[in-house]
Amino acid sequence: MRTLVFDTPAEASQKAFELVRESLENGSTTFGLATGSTPEKLYELIVASDLDFSQASSINLDEYYGLTKQDPQSYAYFMKKHLISHKPFKNVYIPDGEAQDIDAELARYDKIIEENPIDLQILGIGNNGHIGFNEPPADFNGRTQFIDLDQSTIEANARLFDSIDEVPTKALTMGIKSIMDSKKIILMAFGEEKARAVQKLIEGPVDPMVPASVLQNHPDVVVLLDKASAQFLA
Ligand code: PGA
Repeated sequence: MRTLVFDTPAEASQKAFELVRESLENGSTTFGLATGSTPEKLYELIVASDLDFSQASSINLDEYYGLTKQDPQSYAYFMKKHLISHKPFKNVYIPDGEAQDIDAELARYDKIIEENPIDLQILGIGNNGHIGFNEPPADFNGRTQFIDLDQSTIEANARLFDSIDEVPTKALTMGIKSIMDSKKIILMAFGEEKARAVQKLIEGPVDPMVPASVLQNHPDVVVLLDKASAQFLA
């Protein structure tokens, strides 16, 4: 893993943007995308740029279960708002959080990932070390999963809802194995609340209790941090 520490999230996001641009210019066609506060600035930079994704595909990491696609809290809505409606992609894939037949939806998403190998995967990290919604203990061999969200994730995400009771308790997520199959990975983490997870990601043992730590086994990961999230690194 290559770790780069910047003074601010804005500078780290600028670096992420440059890596995305380089990847696109080098022929990448499939981008694994994340939601949450962390990648918002990166998406802003992409939207403001002249980069052309009209021949590219996006594959999102995860989606809450039980929200409609029109719900402002859904990740389908987030992606439209922050990226897709401003910067068209040829194909946009997001797990279907309204699926009635869960097994069919998990199989559908695995097939999409199999048919569209991910060139560049963008990741955030949860306070509990999750990537996507792969909560601890993570299945390092897992493909797309239907999972129960950790109480810590529900609490962390409650800031975006009117009340904690409105946060969905289940989600669909791309599995760790699929994330690890991506050719290149950029993980961003900002703020002091991520500092312990970042320390375990980089300095801890590879441990299913810290799902992101498996990235130590991937050959091409760039970790972009701000000073606050890097504060416990040796
Ligand atoms: P955040 O979420 O970007 O909103 O902090 C990251 C995550 O939980 O993976």
